[in-house]
Amino acid sequence: MAAPIPKAELHLHIEGTLEPELAFTLAERNGLTLPFASQDDLRAAYSFQDLQSFLNLYYALMTVLRTEDDFADLADAYLARAREQGVRHAEIFFDPQAHTARGVAVGTVIRGLARALDAAQDKYGITTRLIMCFLRDESADSALRTFEEARPHLQRITAVGLDSAEVGNPPAKFREVFELAREAGLKRVAHAGEEGPPAGVWEALDVLGVDRVDHGVRSMEDPELVARLAADRVPLTVCPLSNLRLRVVDRLADHPLPAMLDAGLMVTVNSDDPSYFGGYAEDNFTAVREALGLDEETLRTLARNSFRASFLDETTREAYL
Ligand code: HPA
Ligand code: ZN
Repeated sequence: MAAPIPKAELHLHIEGTLEPELAFTLAERNGLTLPFASQDDLRAAYSFQDLQSFLNLYYALMTVLRTEDDFADLADAYLARAREQGVRHAEIFFDPQAHTARGVAVGTVIRGLARALDAAQDKYGITTRLIMCFLRDESADSALRTFEEARPHLQRITAVGLDSAEVGNPPAKFREVFELAREAGLKRVAHAGEEGPPAGVWEALDVLGVDRVDHGVRSMEDPELVARLAADRVPLTVCPLSNLRLRVVDRLADHPLPAMLDAGLMVTVNSDDPSYFGGYAEDNFTAVREALGLDEETLRTLARNSFRASFLDETTREAYL
C-alpha cells in the first residue's frame, strides 16, 4: 500500500472491528463455544442480503466480549490497524445495550475501551473520542435507562448516536434521551438514510438535533433535503464498502458519493464495520478511487472533510489540516 492519506475515521463501530481470529481467542479465554468450526467457517458467513442479516451475525459474535480486558484488546487491535491505514483521529461508536443485555455492565465496556483509547495517542499517534449509540430497535425506555447507567462515565463520552435496524424505527422515538444528552453537553449523531427513507434524515436533524448524519446516502432522493444539508454544512459519514456489502448499492460504481460531492455536501468516507465489510479506512478510500475514478484532489478533500467534521476542538482540528 502506498503511504495512506492522513484522515479521521468518524463512523466506526468498535464491535464491527472484531476479526475472526480475536473472536476465537476471546471465546476460548471466556470458555465459550462459537457456532463456527473455524475462522474460515466464520468468514464464509460474511455474506449479507441487507442490514438485518449483518446485524444478526454482528450481535451473535460480539457475545465473546465479556471483560474489561476483552474490550481493551478489541479497541487496541482496531487502533493498531487504523494507524496502518493513515487514521490520525478516530471517533468510535459502541453499543452498550448489546452488552448490558448480556449482563456486562456499561462501566466494564467503557473502562475497557477507554484504557485502549487513552494509550493510543502515545502508542499509535491517534487521538480518539467515544460515541455511545442507542439501539433503535430497542425501546425509548431502554435507551433512557442506558443513559442513566452511563451517567457516571459521561466525562469519557463525546456524543450519543443511534444505530441498528433503521426501517420501522424512525428517530423521533429517541427525542427524550437525545435531549438529556444535549443537556449533559454531549454532541449528537444518528444513522439515517442508509436503508431508511429521507424522512428519517429530516427527523434526525429536526427532532434529535444531530450534528452529523451517519450514512445519509438516501438523502439524495430528496432535493430539498440535499439543499438543507448543503446549506447547513451537515457532515455525512458515508461508508462505501458497507453500502456495497449490505446491498444499499448493487455496485460500487453506482455509489452516490460523486453526486453527493457535486451537490456540495460535506461528505466523509469511513469503514463502519471493517471486519465484516472487507476493508478499513484506507481500503475504503482505495475502493472509491478505483470504482468511481476519484482524483487525488477529491481524495484530499474527503480527508480534509473528515477532520473538519470531527468533534475535535478548533485548534487541534486546524493542526491536522
Ligand atoms: N447500520 C446500522 N446499525 C449498525 C451498523 C450500520 O451500518 N453497523 C453496526 N450497527
Ligand atoms: Zn454504522
